[in-house]
Amino acid sequence: MNQDILSILVNEEQIDAITTRIAAEIDRDYRASVEAGKKLLLLCILKGSVVFMGDLMKKITLPVEIDFMKVSSYGAGTASSGRVNILLDLHRRDLPDVDIIIIEDIIDSGRTLSYLIDYLKLKGANSVKTCTLLDKPERRDPALVGFHADYAGTTIPDEFVVGYGLDYNEQYRALPYVGILSPAVYTK
Ligand code: IMP
Ligand code: MG
Repeated sequence: MNQDILSILVNEEQIDAITTRIAAEIDRDYRASVEAGKKLLLLCILKGSVVFMGDLMKKITLPVEIDFMKVSSYGAGTASSGRVNILLDLHRRDLPDVDIIIIEDIIDSGRTLSYLIDYLKLKGANSVKTCTLLDKPERRDPALVGFHADYAGTTIPDEFVVGYGLDYNEQYRALPYVGILSPAVYTK
């Protein structure tokens, strides 16, 4: 195990079970709209969700399109700035024919996802749902208590985690599991 990881919170086997379950849920929920001619778009929020989306999309049997947005709500380190800035936008003209599932790595305050849902609905998407690998409900913004993703992998305690796409200052994204980062790394 990486020496900066205190403990593994979600291992490879657990992640595999999560992506299998969520892919089956998405297949079940979107079959009718795909058959009715709507396009299903997996919208990956860069960069942290790249690994999760890559695994998830392989297990969905419906035809899916993919796209990417980049937003920033975190500055450097482990503290949220509280703002959502769009750094890479979604540009397409057919959004009324598109069902979007936003793919996130983790819900923390909930500000990123709740902002993006409103933003993409305003842009005219046929529907907008959310999918997250991890959820830290203890950290929810007081204004967003009760906010949850439509598809969720697993709930985790209020610990700063890295791996499987998640970073600390751009490091640790390539670890194949989700682990708790040793506080020694960010307090030194
Ligand atoms: P929210 O807007 O506060 O829900 O923040 C969501 C974003 O914060 C995620 O997409 C991550 O990029 C980042 N984030 C929140 N918690 C963690 C963590 O424990 N490790 C790494 N990134 C995190
Ligand atoms: Mg991040």
